[in-house]
Amino acid sequence: MPKLFSRSTPPKPASLLRQSLTREHGFEPLRVEGDIPEELAGTLYRNGPGLYECFGHPYSHLFEGDGAVCALRLEHGQALGAHRVVVGEGLRQERLAQKPLYGFNAPWWRRVAANFQKKLKNTGNTSVVVWQDKLYALMEAALPIEISQADLATIGETDLGAVTAAFSAHPHEVPARRAIYNFGLRYGRQTLLDIYELPASGRARLLHSVPLKYPVMLHDFIASERYLVFLVSPVKVNPLRAMLSIPPFEKLFRWDPREGTEVIVVPIDEPERTVRFHTDPFFQFHFANAFDVGDDIVVDFVRYKNFDVLSGLGVEEVDLDTSYVRATITPSTMAYRSEPLAKRCEFPRLHPAQQGREHSHVWMVSQSENPVGDAPDADQLVCLDIASGHQRRFQFADGQRTSEPVFVPRANEQQPNPRDGHVLSLVFDPASRTSYWAVFAAESFEDGPVARLWFDHHVPTTFHGVWAPASSA
Ligand SMILES: [Fe+2]
Repeated sequence: MPKLFSRSTPPKPASLLRQSLTREHGFEPLRVEGDIPEELAGTLYRNGPGLYECFGHPYSHLFEGDGAVCALRLEHGQALGAHRVVVGEGLRQERLAQKPLYGFNAPWWRRVAANFQKKLKNTGNTSVVVWQDKLYALMEAALPIEISQADLATIGETDLGAVTAAFSAHPHEVPARRAIYNFGLRYGRQTLLDIYELPASGRARLLHSVPLKYPVMLHDFIASERYLVFLVSPVKVNPLRAMLSIPPFEKLFRWDPREGTEVIVVPIDEPERTVRFHTDPFFQFHFANAFDVGDDIVVDFVRYKNFDVLSGLGVEEVDLDTSYVRATITPSTMAYRSEPLAKRCEFPRLHPAQQGREHSHVWMVSQSENPVGDAPDADQLVCLDIASGHQRRFQFADGQRTSEPVFVPRANEQQPNPRDGHVLSLVFDPASRTSYWAVFAAESFEDGPVARLWFDHHVPTTFHGVWAPASSA
């Protein structure tokens, strides 16, 4: 029998990665092991849940945690690190009240009232974006929160001049259009998929709104130079449980494979000519890229068979039962076909100049495709050469946990060269109970990091990050 209106059941943390941060600080020198590549100049910002409880009450799911932004700044051959909680308005109120006011830990009458008033706690806990030289922390269902690039202090929530309800945590930049695209879901009597354009200069605007058949959970989308592509999996929001705020978190959503996955293709220059149709049901958190080939759109993403992954996150180590998939979509005939290119991977990233156009390499977190003889859950980074299918891997030792690899191009390169440049990842080392930034040379990354830049504390789970070159840092 469900525990109506009860407080949530505390999860059993798998490791320090699922435990709250122990120290906040602005930029300070990190301990350097190895050699910092001289040409690396800029800041890598990452974000994820940094607080796992509120005044003694543990959150029931990883996704409820309050955000914490961490950063690596490389300048003048020095490595500086910073780490700070995102203090949204909800957390600020809770700190004043000294008790939980939102989520499953709040008294049931308070959380139901908050839901009716559409007052959601903006945790800013998922990713970051830099737009027009300002840094924002993002979560899926709320407005961006501006963060100071000087010391990671929270500045405050903003609608960027255009956002009606929410701004998802997965904006995508299309260099050829000199713009960033993103979406937000607006729940109500009719659920709307709001699509935004953030130009490199000038104002943000609402590009288009697409009505959806039912309220869904939608994490990511992708952009080519001509199209925005949404693969809307049949993950239905349970409106009664959501409105009455009935735990657990994962039961706020219901997987309904009978609905299939809806393919929505929005032409950027003619959004009113949106094409939509259905294909077989599957789930995805993350896309790698999309590009146009004649009348087709090629879309690379990480596919899950269903939505079972949600309940495992945050409680135990996740077995990556996924495929890196290449789909080809033909809007004119509403055709969708796909083929797997790799297995057991997540968090795909690529050379930023290849976004929206054909890419040659993709970098991912992975687990061994042939785990015999290996620890089955050992973390790896993999670089997939798309043309040859060749994979280069680096496996972390001693239970170390890696995060999404962020590719940093060489400064002033003439053509995008994903074989050159560097790859940065944040790694947790359970032996020392601390975290470090791993710096890899792209051309030889399977040999291991050329530098490790150590915090003197652990950094809880981070999901996504962005590299801001020194000129915009
Ligand atoms: Fe994500």
